[in-house]
Amino acid sequence: MNISFEGKVALVTGAASGLGLAAAKAFAESGASVALADWNENAARAAADELNARGHKAIGIRCNVADDAEVEAMVSRTVETFGRLDAAYNNAGVQNVLAETADTTREDYDRVMGVNLQGVWSCMKFELQHMRKQASGAIVNCSSLGGLVGGAERGIYHAAKHGIHGFTKSAALEYGTRGIRVNAICPGLIWTPMVDQMVTDGQGDALKAMEKSIPMGRVGRPEEIANAVLWLCSDAASYVTGQSISVDGGFVMR
Ligand SMILES: NC(=O)c1ccc[n+]([C@@H]2O[C@H](COP(=O)([O-])OP(=O)(O)OC[C@H]3O[C@@H](n4cnc5c(N)ncnc54)[C@H](O)[C@@H]3O)[C@@H](O)[C@H]2O)c1
Repeated sequence: MNISFEGKVALVTGAASGLGLAAAKAFAESGASVALADWNENAARAAADELNARGHKAIGIRCNVADDAEVEAMVSRTVETFGRLDAAYNNAGVQNVLAETADTTREDYDRVMGVNLQGVWSCMKFELQHMRKQASGAIVNCSSLGGLVGGAERGIYHAAKHGIHGFTKSAALEYGTRGIRVNAICPGLIWTPMVDQMVTDGQGDALKAMEKSIPMGRVGRPEEIANAVLWLCSDAASYVTGQSISVDGGFVMR
């Protein structure tokens, strides 16, 4: 993608796999120094090492986004290492255990909300503390097509992803005149290790049926989400804030 992040610093959570890894690579290839954060520390470090070996600037950071102290430390380490924070992609997320609402557990509710909603709130909070001082920055939160429609047996995941829009719009209102933009992205079905896991868990037929109803007739690629994230974080999107952009082959049109 022809967008330059030369001299800029990007932070990506859930950066060891799938959409986060693709975005971290795209930021690095566009010239940014990149902090790759993930609770899988070894994988985050390995991905950062690979980027550094290819001449980019990257660090791998262990961070569980459901833990405020770890999130605060992740943002501080990024700023201490690279001097500033220009772009943040709050991407880390997990699936819920499939269950109809009457059978869902408090444990699964707390686990999924802790990562998918509280984690995004916590990342925004500490990122914005630095961006507010700089009076500049762009944040993209990872929602989902599940943040726009309901999903049987997926209520906890969909509720968390719906909640992201509330945080995104509210922060966009707060910081609109202070040089900071906040948007969300709603990926459709994108082939990543998370989707591999859904197949392993017996959801292969449901995913095939879903694929058939995608207007563009195919599953998406992680790079297609990364392109949208980079655009939203770039000056090319300088008048875009508080929006939720679907990148889903047209899935939520009907
Ligand atoms: N793949 C899809 O079809 C799809 C569709 C819509 C939305 N999404 C969303 O995109 C995001 C990325 O999904 P993916 O498909 O790349 O999944 P993935 O499982 O391939 O990658 C998720 C990454 O997040 C990390 N992670 C999980 N919990 C964490 C935590 N508490 N703290 C830090 N890191 C944590 C994992 O270790 C992993 O590296 C998620 O928020 C997901 O809900 C994915």
